[in-house]
Amino acid sequence: MKETRTQVVIVGAGPAGLLLGQLLQSAGVDNVVLERRSREYVEQRVRAGVIEYGVANLIDDAGAGERMRREGLVHHGVEFRFEHHAHRVALSELADGRAITVYGQQEVVKDLIALRLGAGAPLHFDAEVTVVDGLTSDAPFVDVEGADGTTRISCEYVAGCDGSFGVASRSIPTTLHRKYERTYPFSWLGILAEVPPSNEELVYCRHENGFALSSMRSPTLSRLYLGVEPNDTLDEWSDDRIWDELNVRLATEATPAINQGRVVERSITSMRSVVVAPMRHGRLFLAGDAAHIVPPTGAKGMNLALADVRVLAGALLAQLQRKDDTLLAAYSATCLERVWRAEEFSNYMTQMLHPNGDDDFENGVQLARLRQAVNSREASTVLARNYVDLNSL
Ligand code: FAD
Ligand code: PHB
Repeated sequence: MKETRTQVVIVGAGPAGLLLGQLLQSAGVDNVVLERRSREYVEQRVRAGVIEYGVANLIDDAGAGERMRREGLVHHGVEFRFEHHAHRVALSELADGRAITVYGQQEVVKDLIALRLGAGAPLHFDAEVTVVDGLTSDAPFVDVEGADGTTRISCEYVAGCDGSFGVASRSIPTTLHRKYERTYPFSWLGILAEVPPSNEELVYCRHENGFALSSMRSPTLSRLYLGVEPNDTLDEWSDDRIWDELNVRLATEATPAINQGRVVERSITSMRSVVVAPMRHGRLFLAGDAAHIVPPTGAKGMNLALADVRVLAGALLAQLQRKDDTLLAAYSATCLERVWRAEEFSNYMTQMLHPNGDDDFENGVQLARLRQAVNSREASTVLARNYVDLNSL
């Protein structure tokens, strides 16, 4: 087996792993990013689209924000539709002028990959980490399987940025961490369509038939979602059925029909809330989806992942450059406070917007929450601040 060494091994080239690599690299800390998929795969994978105010600044500070600032769509408000009426929440007015940026996760990933490869820093695709070990010793290591066989990489720290069900969290003995979990009784069917968005801002919609979301990626590309049954498959949803259902759910008197175009991507995602605690085991630190999952209704998944990395980069630099381990010792607790807040917000948005079959008591409560969210200045201020910049609360 070949053997090499670096200071920090980063497992996974999603937004979390790539941003961590960038922050460490630019501060002079050697690190290797290992990704089991191909470059093409991670650059094409359609996922999140909403970037919080503070997270956009973080991407900028890391030197990766140039295209995001040029092409990203800055939104100052968001719309909620229920009982066939539209209600706008003036995000920026309620959140001290801050706004969200709509820019696809895969674009963030492309920008970070280009930056890293441009700087000649090590980033290996088609390289699957199969073993993460030695975590409670001072000589941790990972084994990685690539085209040229297995390599053992020794290091000082391992960052588990390998998403849900990853090898990193699985290498923590089950008795040493706890998993908090909730599964929701619906999934999201998402499509990307070559058609200008029907609305200038995002629309979250609660309809008797189920949830719908109208989002976008650019002035010519729409991203739309439907809440569907948890066991539904893509075969059951023809393009015609998807457009018909989107039209039924999103229609209001003022906007009776949405723009339709060629569907270029479709997928179904189950909805879960998960927290793994603590987010550390010895010299392994978990960040992003490896440590927590939120249902996408609050648009927090990628934002949380990048916010973890900001804390982890600072803590690793303090230890590696100044031998100060106080920030590393506090890493898990620091992140979990924010993570639980995001879990609460994502759960609130999810429960409020997905009608619950025949449970009319629950449905009454959901509508009461929605009315309060759009009609009470106090409630819409909390919603706006959580949505635009959760970290600032
Ligand atoms: P990931 O982006 O999952 O990156 C982890 C990386 O690690 C992957 O590239 C994976 O291939 C790699 N990896 C895994 N195991 C190994 C291994 N053993 N060795 C090497 N590499 C490995 N959030 C939203 O806010 N809105 C959305 O619409 C939305 N849609 C989503 C749709 C899907 C299908 C999924 C799965 C998630 C979605 N999310 C959404 C959540 C959001 O995309 C994630 O929160 C975000 O990707 C987290 O980033 P991450 O870097 O932590 O993990
Ligand atoms: C998206 O554009 O993909 C998106 C937007 C808001 C969400 C989830 C996904 O809450």
